[in-house]
Amino acid sequence: MDDGKDVKDAGLDGNAGMVIAINGSPRKNANTAALLQNALDGAASAGAETELIHLVDLQYRGCMSCFACKRKGTKFIGSCALQDDLTPVLEKVMQSRAVILGSPIYLADVTSLMRAFIERFGFMNISYDNKGQSSLTRKINGAFFYTMNVPKLASALFTYVYKFNTGLLKRCLRGKVEQLICADTWQFDDYDKYAASRFDVAKKKKARELVFPKDCEKAYLIGKRLSGSPL
Ligand SMILES: Cc1cc2nc3c(=O)[nH]c(=O)nc-3n(C[C@H](O)[C@H](O)[C@H](O)COP(=O)(O)O)c2cc1C
Repeated sequence: MDDGKDVKDAGLDGNAGMVIAINGSPRKNANTAALLQNALDGAASAGAETELIHLVDLQYRGCMSCFACKRKGTKFIGSCALQDDLTPVLEKVMQSRAVILGSPIYLADVTSLMRAFIERFGFMNISYDNKGQSSLTRKINGAFFYTMNVPKLASALFTYVYKFNTGLLKRCLRGKVEQLICADTWQFDDYDKYAASRFDVAKKKKARELVFPKDCEKAYLIGKRLSGSPL
């Protein structure tokens, strides 16, 4: 993990060129990671520097309610005082042009890895002054990608999750925010090896072969748009 110094050395202060993807799946080579990598490829095609961060590799916790990010006269206003593996990641995101968050749906919400990230990133940026607007003075573009087992039609079940997170990103980042919903994902390499008879494997295979590549293309275009669109 790079530290703040590397960010500076890369000339990224207030910079427009870095696009960061954050993977909230514990699986580093599965559906969510593939979509995020496609988005980063799209961003790179528009000239951005890119980095994919897997939250599962980091030791960190959610917000500890210390309120240092709201305390007058301290250096922590608008940033997070907790020091752990997420600290340099949050610093990097604050320096980026765009951040793309990706999470599987776990029990009707994002994963605990992503939720803890959002608590830290979201809360430090929501000012208790200024009608709850962002503490950020510049704009960062953003996106939220979701993957899930349920078919596309049922993905509307989680609309409250999408709405909340898109609203939060818009408020925190102040830039353009996009969303991608990828349903009916291929969960296992070999469905025969798992007790999962309720799934129609042929249907899921078809979604994997025909729909997932289209979602990857959408991700690529989102990455390209977010790194190219004006701030
Ligand atoms: C603990 C757990 C809970 C899950 N809960 C849901 C759920 O509520 N709804 C759903 O559609 N899929 C659910 N899934 C399936 C995942 O969202 C889906 O397989 C996703 O694509 C996994 O992302 P990944 O391949 O990047 O790891 C769950 C999977 C796990 C392991």
